[in-house]
Amino acid sequence: MGSSPSSSSVVFAVLFLVFNAAVLCHGGKTSSFVRKVEKTVDMPLDSDVFRVPPGYNAPQQVHITQGDHAGKAVIVSWVTANEPGSKKVIYWSENSEHKEEAEGKVYTYEFYNYKSGYIHHCTIRNLEFNTKYYYVVGVGHTERTFWFTTPPAVGPDVPYTFGLIGDLGQSYDSNITVTHYENNPTKGQAVLFVGDLSYADNYPNHDNVRWDTWGRFVERSAAYQPWIWTAGNHEIDFVPEIGETIPFKPYTNRYQVPYRASQTYGKYTPQYKWLEQELPKVNRSETPWLIVLMHSPWYNSYNYHYMEGETMRVMYEAWFVKYKVDVVFAGHVHAYERSERVSNIAYNIVNGKCVPVRDQTAPVYITIGDGGNLEGLATNMTYPQPEYSAYREASFGHAIFDIKNRTHAFYGWHRNQDGYAVEADTMWFSNRYWHPG
Ligand SMILES: [Fe+2]
Repeated sequence: MGSSPSSSSVVFAVLFLVFNAAVLCHGGKTSSFVRKVEKTVDMPLDSDVFRVPPGYNAPQQVHITQGDHAGKAVIVSWVTANEPGSKKVIYWSENSEHKEEAEGKVYTYEFYNYKSGYIHHCTIRNLEFNTKYYYVVGVGHTERTFWFTTPPAVGPDVPYTFGLIGDLGQSYDSNITVTHYENNPTKGQAVLFVGDLSYADNYPNHDNVRWDTWGRFVERSAAYQPWIWTAGNHEIDFVPEIGETIPFKPYTNRYQVPYRASQTYGKYTPQYKWLEQELPKVNRSETPWLIVLMHSPWYNSYNYHYMEGETMRVMYEAWFVKYKVDVVFAGHVHAYERSERVSNIAYNIVNGKCVPVRDQTAPVYITIGDGGNLEGLATNMTYPQPEYSAYREASFGHAIFDIKNRTHAFYGWHRNQDGYAVEADTMWFSNRYWHPG
């Protein structure tokens, strides 16, 4: 589906950017990359990527996520359609003949006139670091085998590579995004997903069949490496007019996360209390890189969701600077943007200091809500480009955050229209704790 820019349009793009810089003299770069303008369309229900695996009660929508704080546990999830079937996961390391098993739990839910399949979640624990494991689900009916590699033990100079995907949906563009991610020569070892998964809520009565198709669509990656979830607004599924009044019902039934691992999950204003206690606990000798995921971006210069994250920014931004967060990834805006290192925390209601300023102790903010969902691209930007905005482009794509050691990580954003290896925006990150400045 993607088309590469011809050499002449590349030349044009360069000239155009020079013109931009000369005339506007404000923020960073607004890419003039010319992308296709066809409407973003969801793949039909009979698409090959939504295929139900053959066999009686065959496990489908298989996916894994990290299951504890250190990386020695994995939550394995799957859905069976006909009957609950076995709750067991059988697993073994590639170095061992000895097979182990764990037993999980089964969940079902109803949503308006939809009834879910049997949703399984099973945590397997005490895994060895940096080890390939095979696992089998569907024991007793149709067995399916998958594999994953556990992360290395925590330490100051442990390389690790994250993929970044947001606002994915299930359109033809979504499929290109996942394919690009899979084919990226810099192999991501886990996906940091910044919210808005299936977009089932864009269908009449939030047709939850589209949660099932989405689960089958991402299985080809999510069954083999952990996808770390963030909830977005499209996960809320609060529809009182059809009697659905429990927010996040489909999402929480389908995508379990190890939130108890933080051990401080409070009863009142839980997110605030949790974050307040979590940030000082991060040991930068064990985990040098501090990455925050959220859905709605704080530094955004598109005319979509502009300033929606403002109340959250006012509450938390000073903490991010204080605790030397390296990078904040968000989605929500269906486009790409990278900020300068800026902060806007000096304001105290009487001093009038309410403009973001360059701040080398502050994180870089990256909007990566460009997974390709059916709502299409956010193409309308604010002009002039604000000073906090370093690079912005309305294209679909994914990114890779490639941690080399405690001081350096290489970051690259890949637009879907390019070949797999092309990085449209790149940045060397130096760690805010170990190598500031
Ligand atoms: Fe969103």
